[in-house]
Amino acid sequence: MSESPTRLVTAVIVVAAGSGQRLGYGMPKAAVPLGGEPILMHALRGIVASGVASQVCVALPAGDDGLRRMCDDFRDELGDGGPLLSVVDGGSTRSGSVRAGIAALMEGTEAVLVHDAARALTPESVFHRVSDSLAAGADAVIPVLPVVDTIKTVAATTGDNTALAPEVVTGTARREELRAVQTPQGFRAATLLRAHQAAQELDPEQAAAVTDDAMLVEMLGTPVHAVRGSTQSLKITTPLDLIFAEGLLEGPLGARWVEG
Ligand code: C5P
Repeated sequence: MSESPTRLVTAVIVVAAGSGQRLGYGMPKAAVPLGGEPILMHALRGIVASGVASQVCVALPAGDDGLRRMCDDFRDELGDGGPLLSVVDGGSTRSGSVRAGIAALMEGTEAVLVHDAARALTPESVFHRVSDSLAAGADAVIPVLPVVDTIKTVAATTGDNTALAPEVVTGTARREELRAVQTPQGFRAATLLRAHQAAQELDPEQAAAVTDDAMLVEMLGTPVHAVRGSTQSLKITTPLDLIFAEGLLEGPLGARWVEG
């Protein structure tokens, strides 16, 4: 894209209601400290710094007073010049948290970016690429990276061979067609609404298989476009991810390393 088209009135829904069990801190992942500040704070600062949002709507673990107070303080810090900061109770699933965010969107919202708080260090350039693609006319757009590992499908070993190994390979995906998908995922507001309304009709097994919002849009038959993500946009899930993220903030490159 040579020149950025005029951006749409955009809200960012930040899903931060996960338990963070895999991180093992005994507290919601969004509250886990990274470089001296909760993970969520990094995510919020990155979104505001990108300048794409008229509203930031954060879905928090229900009843978490600490994170709520942190958002209140950040709202005060932003003052009148910043985006509207709204806080809602998240759901028991990621999709439920997104829907809680949708319910709190300002009237007049044209585009919605759904972002995992766990991707606390997403560079501004990724927000810009997603927003610019929506402004250029895309209904749905996701940031992606090429896959470096070979990816295989497997099934549980059955019959007489169970002693050999727990799983057996059923196929190998063509790596050049694969992409690892990140957030923020961007949508025209009406498209995201339609996708989540349709999701309410899924049976529990189908609903459990939904791991991102783009998947719901794909089910509508609407094209989902892909722009370049960033390795810096890693999803902090395990203790090792937290070490990587700390390294990005404090590493030998000095100030925060920005991949762009
Ligand atoms: O669990 P997972 O790592 O897939 O979560 C991705 C993002 O979704 C995290 O930022 C997490 O806080 C959020 N989430 C949520 N509500 C849930 C489950 C996850 O907001 N019920």
